[in-house]
Amino acid sequence: MTFQVFLIFSILVSAAVAGEGATAAYVPTDVFLFNCGETSDQMDISGRNWMAEQPNFLPSNAANASFVSHASFQGSGVSKVPYMTARIFRHDFTYRFPVSPGWKFLRLYFYPTRYSSDLDAAVNSYFSVIVNGFTLLKNFSADLTAKASNGAFIFKEFIVPVSSGHTMLNLTFTPSLNMLAFVNGVEIVSMPDRFYSKGGFDDKIAQVGNSIDFEINNSTAFETVHRLNIGGRLIDGISDTGMFRQWLAEKFQLNEKSGIVPIVPGVKINYTENTPAYVAPEDVYTTYRTMGNAEHPRLNQNFNLTWLFPVDAGFNYLVRLHFCETLSDVNGPGQRVFTIFIGNKIAKRDMDVIQLSGGSRIPVFLDFSVFVGFESGPRPDLRLDLHPYTVSEPKYYDAILNGVEILKLSVSDGNLAGPNPNPNSTSGLTPNSVNQDIQKPKAKSHVLVITLGTVGFAIVLAMFIVVVIVMKRRKKKKKVNVDTKSKPTDSWTTLPLVTGSSHTRSTTSLPSDLCRRFSILEIKSATNNFEKKLIVGVGGFGPVYKGRIDGGATLVAVKRLDISSNQGVNEFEAELKMLSMLRHIHLVSLVGYCDDENEMVLVYEYMPHGTLRDHLYKRNKVFDPPLSWKRRLEICIGAARGLQYLHTGAKDMIIHRDIKTTNILLDENYVAKVSDFGLSKVGLTSSSQTHVSTVVKGSFGYLDPEYYRRQVLTEKSDVYSFGVVLFEVLCCRPVKLENVPREEADLIRWVKSNYKKRTVDQIVDADLTAEITPLSLEKFCEIAVRCVQDRGIERPSMNDVVWALEFALQLHEAAKNKNGVDSLDLPRRDEVGTTTDGENDLFSRTTGRMSKSVTSNDDSARLAGDERSGSSWGVFSEIKDPRAR
Ligand SMILES: *[C@@H]1O[C@H](CO)[C@@H](O)[C@H](O)[C@H]1NC(C)=O
Ligand SMILES: *[C@@H]1O[C@H](CO)[C@@H](O)[C@H](O)[C@H]1NC(C)=O
Ligand SMILES: *[C@@H]1O[C@H](CO)[C@@H](O)[C@H](O)[C@H]1NC(C)=O
Ligand SMILES: *[C@@H]1O[C@H](CO)[C@@H](O)[C@H](O)[C@H]1NC(C)=O
Ligand SMILES: *[C@@H]1O[C@H](CO)[C@@H](O)[C@H](O)[C@H]1NC(C)=O
Ligand SMILES: *[C@@H]1O[C@H](CO)[C@@H](O)[C@H](O)[C@H]1NC(C)=O
Ligand SMILES: *[C@@H]1O[C@H](CO)[C@@H](O)[C@H](O)[C@H]1NC(C)=O
Ligand SMILES: *[C@@H]1O[C@H](CO)[C@@H](O)[C@H](O)[C@H]1NC(C)=O
Repeated sequence: MTFQVFLIFSILVSAAVAGEGATAAYVPTDVFLFNCGETSDQMDISGRNWMAEQPNFLPSNAANASFVSHASFQGSGVSKVPYMTARIFRHDFTYRFPVSPGWKFLRLYFYPTRYSSDLDAAVNSYFSVIVNGFTLLKNFSADLTAKASNGAFIFKEFIVPVSSGHTMLNLTFTPSLNMLAFVNGVEIVSMPDRFYSKGGFDDKIAQVGNSIDFEINNSTAFETVHRLNIGGRLIDGISDTGMFRQWLAEKFQLNEKSGIVPIVPGVKINYTENTPAYVAPEDVYTTYRTMGNAEHPRLNQNFNLTWLFPVDAGFNYLVRLHFCETLSDVNGPGQRVFTIFIGNKIAKRDMDVIQLSGGSRIPVFLDFSVFVGFESGPRPDLRLDLHPYTVSEPKYYDAILNGVEILKLSVSDGNLAGPNPNPNSTSGLTPNSVNQDIQKPKAKSHVLVITLGTVGFAIVLAMFIVVVIVMKRRKKKKKVNVDTKSKPTDSWTTLPLVTGSSHTRSTTSLPSDLCRRFSILEIKSATNNFEKKLIVGVGGFGPVYKGRIDGGATLVAVKRLDISSNQGVNEFEAELKMLSMLRHIHLVSLVGYCDDENEMVLVYEYMPHGTLRDHLYKRNKVFDPPLSWKRRLEICIGAARGLQYLHTGAKDMIIHRDIKTTNILLDENYVAKVSDFGLSKVGLTSSSQTHVSTVVKGSFGYLDPEYYRRQVLTEKSDVYSFGVVLFEVLCCRPVKLENVPREEADLIRWVKSNYKKRTVDQIVDADLTAEITPLSLEKFCEIAVRCVQDRGIERPSMNDVVWALEFALQLHEAAKNKNGVDSLDLPRRDEVGTTTDGENDLFSRTTGRMSKSVTSNDDSARLAGDERSGSSWGVFSEIKDPRAR
C-alpha cells in the first residue's frame, strides 16, 4: 500500500520534472520516440510520448520481412512502454526517418525475452544495425549484453552525423545467418551544433600522448560508453538539459580507488558562454569527488584518484571531463592544481579549474582523445588518474572531478561495433542495473501512467491531494505498525520461513536445487555419529562439529540444531535460505544441509583459524603470535567487503544485524568471512524504502543505539556494529569491562574520548604499539569513529569504510617501505612506529614461522563456532518490549 502511494507520488514528481523539460537549457529540433510494433501513441513512465509506428517509415516489404510481437513476460523493472512490444525481423529491414542535418542522438531500446509468437528473441537473435553507412552493431546479442549488465533490458546510445545531402536516417537491421533481429524502441534527438566534435571549453580535443590536437570530421559517428555524474546521483533522461541523456551515479560504474564525496550545500552554477547550460545539468557540476585528507593534504602526493572504465579495444575514444569548483575556500587560481592521466599517459599536466573557468561556481569541460589498443585484450579498462600537481606549490594538494563522458569514435570504415560482452566475466555493477533500480518502483504502474496521461490536469491535481491525505494517514498507521510484531512492510520481505515454532518442517521450502542436501547417514559418518570430541564450538542453536565428507577429503563444520531450541528453528532456516543464495569470498559458504529424521543440520566450509574473537582474546600466548597490524587490517577489509556485498552487491539489500567478532571467521590464509545470517533481513533496494521496522535484535554491545531507540533498521546499523569490531581489533578488549575506571568501562566511549584528546595511541593493543604507524592509526580511528556515530545518516557507507581501511593499509605499507610517507612532515606521534627495518624484518619472520607451526599443529584449530552462549555475548533478542514505549 505504501508502495503504491509512493508510485503515484513518483509519477507526479516525474510529470513535474517532465514539464520542466520543456523549458530546458536546450530545445532539440528533432525529438522522435518510436514504439516499434505499437499501433497507438503511448506515454512511458517518465511522461514522454512514444509514437505508434508510422507506415511511411517502414519499408515496402515490412509485412514479409518482419512481424510484430508482444513480450510474453514483463520482467521486474521492465516498463511497458516501449519494451513490451517489438518488431522482429527475419530479413534485412530498413526504417527511414526524416531528420534535419547535423549530429543526432540515436537510442535503440531492447528487451530480450520470449515473445508471444513463441519465438525466443533472447536466444535466437544475433544481428547487425547499420545507419547511413555506419555499422553500429555487428552480430549483436541484446541478451548477452543485458545479462552482462545484470539487467533485463538495455538501451544503446549512438551519435550519428546526418549530412545536408541526406536528410534521412536509414536504420537497417540485418539478422545473422539463421537468426532473428528485433527492436523495441527507437529514439532520435538532435543536439547543439557539433556538440561532441569541436572540443571542450577551449575548442580543442587534446590528443593524449601526442602534441597535435585531434580533429573529428563530419563523417564520424559515436557510441556513448560511459556517462557519469561523479559523486552524485543518477540523472535520468528527463532531468538532462534537453537532450535526454542519462548520467549514471558513479558507484555503479567504476572501480573507485580513493577519494571522498563531500556533502555539497545547494549552490547555483554560473553557466557561461564557454560552458552553456546545456552542456551538463547543474547536478553534475554541484557534486564531485576529491581526494580529501584535508588534515594531511601532503599525503595525497602518494596517491591518485583513479577510475577504470571498461571499453572495447581498437578504437579512439573521446573523453570529456567536467569540472566546477564550488567551495568558497577554493576561490582563486593556483589553489587546487592537478595532473590528469588518461590511459597512464599525461593528458594535462597542470589542471587548475578556477584558472580555466574564471571563478568559483563556473563550470568548465575538457575534451581528450585517446586510442585504446589490443595490448590488454579485447575489453581492457581505460584508466583515468588524477594526481596533485605540486610544482607550483598550490594551496591544496588535491584533485577534483564532477563528471565524465566517454564516447567511442567510429573507425574509418564507419564501424563502431565491438564484440559481445561475456556475461560471466563482468561484475554486474554496470549502467543498466542502475537503470533498472530506478525503474523498479515505477514499473508496475504503467497502466496508471497511461491513464494519467489521458485525463486532465484537474484530475491529476485531485489525485495528488488524495495522495497527500493517504500518505499522511499511512504515516500515522505506520507508527502504529511499529508497535506490533515484526511484520515486514510491503517492500520488505523476510525470508520465507516455516511458520510456528514446532519442529515439523516442510522440505519443500528448502532450496535443494541451490545447495547440496545430505542424508543423516552422511552427516553421522562425517561427525563420527556426533562425537563429543569433535565439538569445536557451541552456538545459540546447539553444537558445531568438525567433520569430514567426501570420503574424508573435505573438512567441514557441521552445525546441528538442538531439538530443544525453539527459537533456533527460524534462524536456522533463515540462515539456510540466505546463504544458499549468496556466494562471496568474504561470506562463509554453505556446503549443504540435512533435514532428515527430525534433525536440522547446516554444513559449512571449515574455517581452520576460527573466529576473530578467539584471535583477540583467547589465543594461546605461547603458540599463537598476536595478529599483526597488517593482518588485522586485512581481516577488517575482508569483513568490510563481505558486508559491502550484502549491502550493495546482491540483488536485494541484505542487513546482517549481528556483526560481531564471533561472526567473523578466518580461513587457513586468514581471509575473513562473515558468518551467521540467522538474523539477517532482505529488503528491496528501492529508493523509497531505506529502512524497516522490526523488533530489535542483535548482540549486546554491538547494537546500534538508534535502532534500539527507534526500532527502525537500516544498513547503517551494521556499520555501527562493524565500528565496534574495529575498536576491538585496535584495542583488543571487549566492548564492556567491569572493575575498571568508569570512563574505561565502555569501549566506544573510551576510544572516542581518547580520539578527541588525540591519545588513542596510548590505548591500542600493546602487541601493536611497536608496529602500528601513526598515519595508519589515524585513518583507522577516523573511519571507526565515524562508524559509531549516534545518527545513522552520519555514518559512512560500507563502500567508504572499505576504502578508508584500504587506505589505512596503504599508509601502513608505505611507512614500512620507508621511502613512502616518511618524507612527509607528520603532525604528531612521531615517536611511535619508528621501528627500524631490521626490527620489521625480524617481526615478520617470527610471525611467519610461528603461524606455520600453528597450521601444522592442527589440533588446536577452531572453527566456525558461534559463541553466542558465552557469558555476556548471548543473543540479545527482543531485549525490550516494543510496546513499552
Ligand atoms: C515475400 O517474400 C517472398 C520470398 O522472399 C516473395 O516471393 C513474395 O513475393 C513476397 N511477398 C510480398 C507481398 O512481398
Ligand atoms: C536512405 O534511403 C533512401 C532510399 O533508398 C536513399 O535515397 C537515401 O540516399 C538513403 N540515405 C542514406 C544517407 O543512405
Ligand atoms: C561540417 O559540418 C558543418 C555543419 O554542421 C559545416 O559547417 C562544416 O563545413 C562541415 N565541415 C566539413 C569539413 O565538411
Ligand atoms: C558569473 O560569472 C561571471 C564571470 O564569468 C561574473 O561576471 C558574474 O558576476 C557571475 N554571476 C554570478 C551570479 O555569480
Ligand atoms: C598515478 O597514475 C599515473 C598514471 O596512471 C601513474 O603513472 C602513477 O604511478 C600513479 N601514482 C600513484 C601514486 O599511484
Ligand atoms: C574524416 O576523418 C577520418 C579519420 O579521422 C578520415 O579517414 C576521413 O577521410 C575523413 N573524412 C573527411 C570527409 O574528411
Ligand atoms: C556472434 O557472437 C557470438 C557470441 O559472442 C559468438 O559465439 C559467435 O561466434 C559470433 N558469430 C559471428 C559470426 O561472429
Ligand atoms: C556462462 O556460464 C554458464 C554457466 O557457468 C555457461 O553455461 C555459459 O556458456 C557461459 N557463457 C559464456 C558466454 O561464457
